Amino acid sequence: MPNYFALVPAAGYGSRMGNQLPKQYLILAAKPMIYHAVKTLCQSHKIARVFVVLSPQDPEWQKYDWAEFSNKLTVLYCGGETRAQSVLNGLAAAPGQFTVEPDDWILVHDAARPLLIQSQLTLLMDALADDTVGGLLAVPVADTLKRSDANKCVRRTEPREHLWQAQTPQMFRYKMLVDALDKTINMNITDDASAIEAMGFHPRLVHCKDYNFKITYPQDLELAELIIQKRKNQCIP
Ligand code: C5P
Repeated sequence: MPNYFALVPAAGYGSRMGNQLPKQYLILAAKPMIYHAVKTLCQSHKIARVFVVLSPQDPEWQKYDWAEFSNKLTVLYCGGETRAQSVLNGLAAAPGQFTVEPDDWILVHDAARPLLIQSQLTLLMDALADDTVGGLLAVPVADTLKRSDANKCVRRTEPREHLWQAQTPQMFRYKMLVDALDKTINMNITDDASAIEAMGFHPRLVHCKDYNFKITYPQDLELAELIIQKRKNQCIP
């Protein structure tokens, strides 16, 4: 039976948040944002180990106490210039810390998606358990999509049928993911599934029906705060 590992790329700067502090460390529900996803991943009984990939110069991580996750968490200071490079560096460094087999599952999850909960993890792992390729959480596009020119004038309306917004976790076999990222590292890809797609595979989309949006703009943080509070009141793990 393959093992499950999580890898959290957290070496970005989050420039669109307009804040000096990298966004994974902005305070959300009294904790640095990254804490929330790390907690959910560490509390999953199926996940053997959680790797967090930080920038080699990260000055923030050590300001917090992570002792509650010490039996599950490994921190790797090997982030790269892009998200894909951070993931690839993390995947290369992980086996030095823990035995990882080629067919083990890797769940890559953005530090900037703090709303991940156990039911979403279970949904993804159950849906893909027997899949030969793997896949990702995603939501069907709800808005009408416009393609613009450089002056922000509409050039055309894109049909939204069969269009999805990719989320994370994205779950693939260790070796397949390393090989795919390695071959596509200069292709400007923004998620792991794109690398797998470029190899000719077709990752499965698993419809995520609960909140799991990425914190990108300041207003996202306000909404996430409200959702965490609501879930707390309803005792949702
Ligand atoms: O910038 P974006 O929101 O797409 O980043 C998604 C995730 O990838 C974040 O958790 C961010 O910290 C991470 N990342 C990284 N290394 C980079 C850029 C982004 O680990 N060089």
